[in-house]
This record gives sequence, structure tokens and C-alpha cells, in this order.
Amino acid sequence: MDTNKEKGRLVVLSNRVGPLSDSGKAGGLAVGLGDALRRRGGIWFGWSGKTSEQGTFSAFDRETEGDVELVRVDMTEQENTDFYGGYANTTLWPLMHYRLDLAGFERRFEAAYRHINQRMAARLSTLLEEDDVVWVHDYHYLLVGHELRETGFKGPIGFFLHIPFPPPEIFAALPNANSIVRGMVDYDVIGFQTERDCRNFCRYITDELGGEQVDEARVRLGDRTIIAKAYPIGIDAEGFEKLARSADALALRKKLYTMLEGRHQVVGVDRLDYSKGIPERLRAFDELLQTYPENRGKVTLLQIAPLSRAELESYRDLRRELEELAGHINGAFGTLEWTPIRIMTRGFTRRALAGICRASRVGLVTPLRDGMNLVAKEYVAAQDPENPGVLVLSRFAGAARELQAGALMVNPHDPGDVAGALQTAVTMPLAERQRRFETMREPVFRTTAQSWCADFLAELYAFRAGDRSGAA
Ligand code: ADP
Ligand code: G6P
Repeated sequence: MDTNKEKGRLVVLSNRVGPLSDSGKAGGLAVGLGDALRRRGGIWFGWSGKTSEQGTFSAFDRETEGDVELVRVDMTEQENTDFYGGYANTTLWPLMHYRLDLAGFERRFEAAYRHINQRMAARLSTLLEEDDVVWVHDYHYLLVGHELRETGFKGPIGFFLHIPFPPPEIFAALPNANSIVRGMVDYDVIGFQTERDCRNFCRYITDELGGEQVDEARVRLGDRTIIAKAYPIGIDAEGFEKLARSADALALRKKLYTMLEGRHQVVGVDRLDYSKGIPERLRAFDELLQTYPENRGKVTLLQIAPLSRAELESYRDLRRELEELAGHINGAFGTLEWTPIRIMTRGFTRRALAGICRASRVGLVTPLRDGMNLVAKEYVAAQDPENPGVLVLSRFAGAARELQAGALMVNPHDPGDVAGALQTAVTMPLAERQRRFETMREPVFRTTAQSWCADFLAELYAFRAGDRSGAA
């Protein structure tokens, strides 16, 4: 499948690197990119996840898995606090998820961000050979393309944003937003999860910076014409389906069925992040038990919520809120035999997650805003076609575009709407479940991690070949 390989090595940069194996680590970027890179080979460079005195000057930590070389560097404590905890996750993450109310803007965060983007570009440049093609990922590294050009690298540089790009009216609230977007235009190809995100970015260029939309796929700013397009990310659907059918997953499913004693399980799987709408989901489950009391004792919500970014206050507040809410609902409705809501914050192997999804009658995916949401696709891939479950999906997830024809679509801000969808899901006849499942199965197996990677790279390699030169 890899027609691009001979045209130059692929070098990837993202904040988190790997692992490529089934580790029980949460995060869509690592899962999507890992699935794609495993098949293609190349270098994957980024942060080691550790802090040290040398920080980004530390020696490379190199490790080889199959055809992929994983290369990592440390950060200093301060770099980590101001870059990762600060600009990336206190400034950009909430802003990009339309949460200006949670965004914090501090000059030292921005300075750290520019410094780390420059440092990582400098370290990356020492790994590069002339024919390499560079692919940078996510909001941590909006400016690496710009910095890499400063080092003299002339090859194609692509960028993929895994999270939403908000409307210009919101992005403009970012101090120095113009300079960030101007820096991004040094990438040759910029990929987004959805057409909406792409449109928002292009509107920023045209409406705020006076640039021009050249055609459907190209936008111009000053003397730079770049490709900006939507490339929705997918999962390794066949691999996940296989995991869900594995003996281990089936054994786990059997165990869960025994524990459930004929009850339906509704499952939520999300990093503990405010963008995922987890408290709102619990309130909707509360509403289900209030409005449709026949579900009391009959339906259980299993929320898997691995802790994320726990050093930040907004995330700690969320955890507290969630525990209080679950305690309240369990206290009000629970019986000796039945606990309405179970929350688990531990990591699971992908095999276990696949088994849990297959054993769950409903997949409840209700982010308030999400770039794509791979869990929605994993839930579909894990289902038993003979007896599939139902996906309840937020209209604000990037995955909505591909899955809306088969999922029960909801507004996650409206507990009544979500409760109604849950009621429909737990009472849905088999024939309708099968029909809906088949409708969703098709896009999940068509747009995969592999096809996403191949589509993006085809564009990036074509850029070098001059097939799509920047000149309009
Ligand atoms: P995000 O990238 O915002 O975390 P996604 O839904 O796109 O959201 O991706 C999350 C990924 O992390 C999915 O592949 C999911 O299966 C995985 N994941 C979520 N929770 C866990 C967990 N407890 N253990 C292991 N993997 C998890
Ligand atoms: C999302 C982001 C990734 C990030 C992941 C986990 O998927 O798009 O870039 O790696 O969340 O978050 P963390 O802060 O733990 O890396």
C-alpha cells in the first residue's frame, strides 16, 4: 500500500510519541498515528514525557519498533509547566474547544511555546536528511514548520490538527493570534478533522488577515499559497474488530454479561476532560432514571475516564464534580443489587476496551466539542453484527459527519434529548439496530487510520513532486 516510501523517508513530530504496542495509554493522536506509522515506517520524534535539567537539550532517547524509530527528548520542569500545562493546555486547548471561559492567557506561556517550538524544530533538523518529508502534529506545534524553515530545511512540511479549529471570532481572542496563523502558513499542507474546522481556519486567513481562498483546497496569504483540507482521521477498524472477536475479549464479554445479570450496559470511554461532556452525560443518565423509571435496576452506566492533565486545576475540578455527581445519583437510585453508575479511571488494553464495547448495548459519546472522537468509531468496529449495540453521538463530535446516518444524534447540552435517545437505544428492536450498525460500519471501515495517513501523505508528497505547486 505504501507507494510513497521510495520518494523519501517520513519524519513525524508530535508531543507524545508512541508507543506502537497495546499499552493502555489513552489519547486519539497516539492511537491514530501509531496505527498508521506501524504500517509505513519512519521516524517519530517528540517529548519523552520526562523532565530533566537539560530539558530539550537532553540526549536523544532512541528506540526501534519494527520499521519505526522512536526518538524522544526531555523538557525541563519549567518548560513542561509553561509549554505543556500553560500555552498548550491552558491557552490553546480550551480556546480551540470553544471554551474561552476556561482559557488563560499569560505572556510567559506564549514565550515558552515559541521557545519549545523553536527548540524542537532545531533538534528535529539534526535528524533530517535532504529527501525527508516532515509531518507535524497537533496544537502543541503550530509554529514548528516556520521554525524548521529558519533552519534551512527545504523539503515538504505538513501539519495535521487533531482538535477543532474554532471560528475566527473565537480564535481572534488569542493574543497574537495573527502572528500564530501567519507562522502556520509556512506549512505546505494543513489538514483538519472536518470541513468546518478547515473553513474556520481559511476564514481566519481571509477575514482577519486579508488573504484569499484560491480554490476549494488552496488558500493564499502574502506570497504563500498552501493546501488546507479536511482529512478525517479513522481507526485501524479491522484490527479493532479482530480484537473484539478475540478469545480474551469474548471471555471478558461473558464475564460482564454474568455480572450484569440481564441488565443493559451503557458505556462511555473518555479521557477525563471537560471537552468530553461527562458531567452533562451523568445528568442525562439521571434524567433517564427520573423520566423512564422502568430503567431503574435495568440499565447501568459504565464510565471509563482515565485521568488526564491532572496538574491543571480545571481538570481537578472536573474530577471532583464527576465524583460528586456519581455519588449523588448512586445514592438516590442505587439498590443492594444495582449500582447505576460505575466510574473507572484506570487504563485498559485495547483488547479489553474492545471487549467492553462489544458487551455494551449502548455507546454513549457526548462531547461538547471534539476534533473527531475515535471512541465513536471504535464502538462501531467492536460490535457483533448479529446483535449490535446502538451509538448515541453528540452532534458536536467530528465523527458526527460520517456517523450521523446510523447513530442517534443528540445535543449533549440537553439532558432531556440525551435521556430520550438512551431510552430509544435500550428499547430499539434488533432489525433497526442492525440497519443502523450497517450504515455506520461502512464509513468506519472505509476511512481508517491507514487511509487517512495515505491521503494526507499523497498530498504532501505531491507537493514536493510539483504536482500541486504552491503557485496559484
Ligand atoms: P482524545 O484524543 O481527545 O483523548 P479520542 O476519542 O479521539 O479522544 O481518542 C481516545 C483514545 O484513547 C481512543 O482510542 C480510546 O480507546 C483510548 N482510551 C480511552 N480511554 C482509555 C483507557 N482507559 N485505556 C486505554 N485507552 C483508552
Ligand atoms: C488529544 C490530543 C493529543 C493528546 C491527547 C492526550 O488526543 O489531540 O495531542 O496527546 O489528547 O492528551 P495528553 O495531554 O495526555 O497528551
